[in-house]
Amino acid sequence: MSGISFRELDPHDRYKLLCGVVVPRPIALVTTLDENNKVNAAPFSFFNVFSEDPPLVVLGLQHKADHSPKDTTRNIHRSGEFVVHMVDEALATTMNDCAIDFPSGNSEVEATGLATLPSVDIAVPRLAAAPFALECRQHVALAFGPGRELLVGEVLRLHARDGLVDRERMYVDFDVYRPIGRLFGNLYATQRDTFALTRESHAQWLARSGAREPSGESQ
Ligand SMILES: Cc1cc2nc3c(=O)[nH]c(=O)nc-3n(C[C@H](O)[C@H](O)[C@H](O)COP(=O)(O)O)c2cc1C
Repeated sequence: MSGISFRELDPHDRYKLLCGVVVPRPIALVTTLDENNKVNAAPFSFFNVFSEDPPLVVLGLQHKADHSPKDTTRNIHRSGEFVVHMVDEALATTMNDCAIDFPSGNSEVEATGLATLPSVDIAVPRLAAAPFALECRQHVALAFGPGRELLVGEVLRLHARDGLVDRERMYVDFDVYRPIGRLFGNLYATQRDTFALTRESHAQWLARSGAREPSGESQ
C-alpha cells in the first residue's frame, strides 16, 4: 500500500513527519499575565493567521506530560488575553530562551531581560523588541483529547516597529522585516530568498496558454 497511514504511527512519529513536511511555520512568541501579574513568554509554531473578517489567529497548545496546561494556556484561560509577537532574526535566540521550562511563576521576560511596553486594549504587556505585536482576546478554545488544545484568538490591535509598515498603503516592507520560520527540531529558516508570482484571471490564463474557451457544442 502506498503512503504512510497515520493511524498506524505513534504520535511522536506523526509529530516528526508533520513538522518536517509543513514548513516553514511562523512563530508566535506569546506573552500572557499570570495570577501575580508576572509576564510569561513562550514560543508556539503551531500557529497561523486564520482570517481577516473576523481577524483571527490560531495557536496549537500542547499540554504537559501529566496533561496539565502550560503556563501560557493557563493564563489565557484565566484572563482571555494574550499578545502574539512575530519573531525576526534579531529576536531568534531570545525566543528560544523563552522555551526553556522555567518553573511556573518565573517570568521568562524578566529572566531574559526583555523590555515590555503597555498594550492598549488588554492588560497583557507587549515586548518592545518584537517587529510586530498583535493584541489578542480568546475567541474560542477547542480541546482535542487530554493533551491538545486549539485556541482561536481575535486580533484587536497591531503594533509595528517604526519603518515596517507603510500606513498609507498598508504594506509591510520586506526589505526591513526579517521574520524567521521554524523548520524541524532545532532548524529555522530566514525568508531572504523570495520570488514573485503574479496571480492571473481566467481570461489572462486563456490568452497566455493559447487555449480556447469551450464552445459548449460537441464536435
Ligand atoms: C520554536 C518553538 C516552537 C514551539 N511551538 C510550540 C507549539 O506550537 N505548541 C506547544 O505547545 N509548545 C510549543 N513549543 C514549546 C513551548 O514553547 C514550551 O513548552 C514553553 O516552555 C511553554 O512555556 P509556558 O509553560 O511558559 O507556556 C515550542 C518551542 C519552540 C522553541
